[in-house]
Amino acid sequence: MHVTQDEKKRRAAEAAIEHIEAGAVIGLGSGTTVNLLIEILAGAKHRIEGAVASSQATEARLKEHRIPVVDLNHTGGLALYIDGADEATQHLQLIKGGGGALTREKIVAAASRRFLCIVDDSKLVDVLGRYPLPIEVLPMARSYVARELVKLGGQPQWRSGYITDNGNVILDVRSLSLLDPAKMEAEINHIAGVVSNGIFARRPADLLIIGTDAGVKTLS
Ligand code: A5P
Repeated sequence: MHVTQDEKKRRAAEAAIEHIEAGAVIGLGSGTTVNLLIEILAGAKHRIEGAVASSQATEARLKEHRIPVVDLNHTGGLALYIDGADEATQHLQLIKGGGGALTREKIVAAASRRFLCIVDDSKLVDVLGRYPLPIEVLPMARSYVARELVKLGGQPQWRSGYITDNGNVILDVRSLSLLDPAKMEAEINHIAGVVSNGIFARRPADLLIIGTDAGVKTLS
């Protein structure tokens, strides 16, 4: 039986709950799938002691549901980070940042022992790159970085009017070859003015939970 994309996201979010150790402080990403997870957590507050938020939007939602928000500088390393993705491969490499929160997401993922990614099955791809790659850039470097991205084969577009939680801008880049995503991730990070990019290949997910018509499928 066919279910909606939202229902698939909800299935993935529900399955993630089982991976949360009772009483833990977890890292939480951003987006509609994580928002569903927050709603589920709100009904089961005893499960976590608090959460490190990867965006102001997630922080606001957690506070709305009276789930304690904890500063990453006070937690030390985290055992678990849970987040959605815009694209995911079978090798658990991701594109993230559709919501613009990629830099903080990368930080919390890096600070966590395990990264659990929750998606609906529309996000699965054989090769990354159908979704335009978000890159966070210092405002004064916008044009320079765009020119450098063109040299790499990309077609950057400024996400006009959008400012990240860190006060920067986003370039969404089409047409980059991401056959070797870890290499491209490093190459883009070397452009002066780039804060971070939305390829999660050097630190991929450890577990991918995919919501489908039939239930959930897990890849590790
Ligand atoms: C936020 O910047 C993104 O990295 C999100 O993780 C991604 O866009 C997934 O969002 P949805 O859960 O809304 O699809």
